Amino acid sequence: MARRKIIAGNWKMNMTPSQAVALCAELKDLVKSDSVDVVYCVPAIDIVPVVEAVKGTNVQVGAENLYIEDKGAYTGEISAPMLVDAGVKFVIIGHSERREYFKEDDAFLNKKVKKAFEAGLTPILCCGETLEQREMGVTMDWIRLQIKSDLVGITADQVKSMVIAYEPIWAIGTGKTATTEQAEEVCKGIRECIAEIYDAATADAVRIQYGGSVNAGNAAELFAQPDIDGGLVGGASLKADFGKIVNY
Ligand code: PGA
Repeated sequence: MARRKIIAGNWKMNMTPSQAVALCAELKDLVKSDSVDVVYCVPAIDIVPVVEAVKGTNVQVGAENLYIEDKGAYTGEISAPMLVDAGVKFVIIGHSERREYFKEDDAFLNKKVKKAFEAGLTPILCCGETLEQREMGVTMDWIRLQIKSDLVGITADQVKSMVIAYEPIWAIGTGKTATTEQAEEVCKGIRECIAEIYDAATADAVRIQYGGSVNAGNAAELFAQPDIDGGLVGGASLKADFGKIVNY
């Protein structure tokens, strides 16, 4: 089965609402594509203006986070129904920055994945190893542990519809991209892990992105790999280069 590529920008904590609207206008023609899915994952405060700004285009909007309850006394949090009502389709879950700075563990992330599906959002579930883990030779063990724990209780049909992003932590924002071979090896390993937990059809359907210093120069080679179905792009999603990545 041919999987449709998905190129998502992860804006992180960048772009004020007015800057966000300006960026959407700048990128509008550059990210046009009939052949790939294009998603902007934006800060919560930018969601409403960005959904408005991309109306009528091929761009879909994602959130960078969600909370595990639908409503109530959780000051500062944003729920899945709020995101859905605002027009959000995707949500990043388990980015290494949230795992590290906000101490989100796999049990909590599993609840977030469940909540996203319950609300009708498509999770972009992130996983990835530290440089230390890579050097110790435990990369795949670590990633398998993350994937297996984050997907507890998630059905095969749900997994078929979701996105997994492999993001080696040492490659994020460092300009130090994983080699094509390293990226493909882990994305393939993730697919094998999905085949083990579920079945071959589920592994064949799930889309697996690579993320970590993706840019206009390396996107084509990365996305040409058999198990890499697109990218999760941080820094380069905030400029015109993102159009080149989409149209790699
Ligand atoms: P980067 O970030 O492209 O700036 O390395 C990727 C990410 O963290 O999703």
